[in-house]
Amino acid sequence: MSSSSQQRVLSGMRPTGQLHLGHLHGVLKNWLTLQYEYRCFFFAADWHALTTEYDNTALISQNVWDMIVDWLAVGINPGEASIFIQSKVPEHAELHLLLSMCTPLSWLERVPTYKDQQVKLKEKDLATYGFLGYPLLQSADILIYKASMVPVGEDQVAHVEVTREIARRFNYLYGREHNFEEKARDATRKMGKKNAKLYKELRKRYQEKGDDEALSTAIALVDSQQNITLGDKKRLLGYLEGDTKTILPEPSALLTPMAKMPGLDGQKMSKSYGNTIALRDSPNTIQDKVRTMPTDPARMRRTDPGDPAKCPVWQFHKVYSNDSVQTWVQENCITAGIGCLECKQPIIEAILVELAPIREKTNQYTDEPETVRAIVNEGCEKARATARETIEEVRQVMGLVYR
Ligand code: TRP
Ligand code: SF4
Repeated sequence: MSSSSQQRVLSGMRPTGQLHLGHLHGVLKNWLTLQYEYRCFFFAADWHALTTEYDNTALISQNVWDMIVDWLAVGINPGEASIFIQSKVPEHAELHLLLSMCTPLSWLERVPTYKDQQVKLKEKDLATYGFLGYPLLQSADILIYKASMVPVGEDQVAHVEVTREIARRFNYLYGREHNFEEKARDATRKMGKKNAKLYKELRKRYQEKGDDEALSTAIALVDSQQNITLGDKKRLLGYLEGDTKTILPEPSALLTPMAKMPGLDGQKMSKSYGNTIALRDSPNTIQDKVRTMPTDPARMRRTDPGDPAKCPVWQFHKVYSNDSVQTWVQENCITAGIGCLECKQPIIEAILVELAPIREKTNQYTDEPETVRAIVNEGCEKARATARETIEEVRQVMGLVYR
């Protein structure tokens, strides 16, 4: 399939430290399938890392390289997906700036992560311009590629949502065609004074605030008109969406289908909980981590029966074990037929088997930094070619053309 006719998928990850099994099962496995189905862009969001790490930038570049090596090691294929670094594609920054001109402050202030993160990362001063703009920068990341799908976790859905609002507003401001608008306005008048006023109000509510209810009411209003031609009805409907020209298409979030990878303590696996198994952990470390995992707290002695439903180890069996192992656990836990260490052994083995080929490829890429640099350079070039097309168009519709 030619790449121009293919839908685009874009996703980014902040280079904040070691990738772990949560990333592998929650994000990367998803990317692995998507790369063969769509035109994919995967990037290291180093500017996004700066929004919280601006006072501690020493590790960012190393984290970027390690993260990209890990992507390659799990099988992200540079022949299929463009792999690049955000700050190497300055078009993201230009679009961010241009979008900032027409983005209401209140839209950014009400994104839930804005306040949540400030509370969660109390030790940091996040009362910065850059941090408030975090979701807008993310919008620019997405819109610069006109991506239709953005694979993200639940916590990022609000950012895709605000991206949709920003695209809609941008198209509303810069996507109209003069002739069309005139005709649409004429058609409005033909509805009669009262209906025309109502139509205008509903249209404004939908376009400026994304109010879907206003949109459906307006569509019903247009449909119910008796005295206007079909052509005018179509104009009025098109005018509602304001999309005579859609310059920046609205993306959708593609929620990661995989169940969340549990952490060693049963909470979601996350660096901030200190409950991870890193892709780069050594076999010994992995063995120690699993062996010291908490189990059903009621099972104090080897002879006490346990309940898998109350045990984080069981969550791991659900990810890693086949039916027969799962049955073995179920039957022997509640009867105290097996000890917890015995129960954990198949998990240790499964993780080691899963990570062995990844570790091998990680070492291989680490030994060949020039190969990794070349892959990223090529990914940056491909990304830039697409990003430039969009920024050209954006400059043009915004009137920033000097020839
Ligand atoms: N904010 C995302 C995260 O923390 C990373 C990110 C930056 C991103 N830009 C993006 C994800 C664009 C998807 C699309 O996970
Ligand atoms: Fe958990 Fe397995 Fe021990 Fe049961 S036997 S408590 S499932 S580790």
